[in-house]
Amino acid sequence: MALTVVPVADDSAEAWREIHNLIIPVAPLSRTDVEERRGRNLLTLGLVGGATVGNATVRPVVDGQATVIVRVLPEYRRRGYGSEYLRRMLAVAGELGAASVATVVLAANVEGLAFALRHGFVEVERYTVDGAQFIDLSRDLPVG
Ligand SMILES: CC(C)(COP(=O)(O)OP(=O)(O)OC[C@H]1O[C@@H](n2cnc3c(N)ncnc32)[C@H](O)[C@@H]1OP(=O)(O)O)[C@@H](O)C(=O)NCCC(=O)NCCS
Repeated sequence: MALTVVPVADDSAEAWREIHNLIIPVAPLSRTDVEERRGRNLLTLGLVGGATVGNATVRPVVDGQATVIVRVLPEYRRRGYGSEYLRRMLAVAGELGAASVATVVLAANVEGLAFALRHGFVEVERYTVDGAQFIDLSRDLPVG
């Protein structure tokens, strides 16, 4: 079934937050955090046939680089939704004028790191925040 991507609205910010905190439990966001992020980033939900399957963050372009992070709920993985969601968000980054795109993966998320590498991202650096290791990656645009 096709993936529909919708911007987060007032009544769906909590759904976006729940997905984020379920997938990234080491760095949970409060409602206030999500509201702040809505002010500066493009936050979206991914829907398939009425079910919410994941969410994404696109941070604005800084020095030619946007940041894109897609998250798919465990029960909806390995069906191509992550790849499709990433493809759409890379297109948005291109429309914003980005020449390259960064992403961030929790090192413990082996699936997420493999996904990013398979989609052309290369590791830039690893760092630890509150005991959790994160990996920054980047890749050039346009999508090849
Ligand atoms: C990374 C993440 C978004 C991938 O989501 P996903 O929906 O499983 O992604 P896809 O289905 O497109 O691809 C995952 C795998 O499923 C496979 N797949 C895709 N469609 C398939 C299908 N119909 N049947 C079987 N396998 C399929 C893909 O080939 C891929 O396999 P591979 O890793 O062996 O190459 C998800 O694991 C996640 O949210 N992780 C946590 C957040 C994160 O780390 N995000 C990465 C930052 S961008």
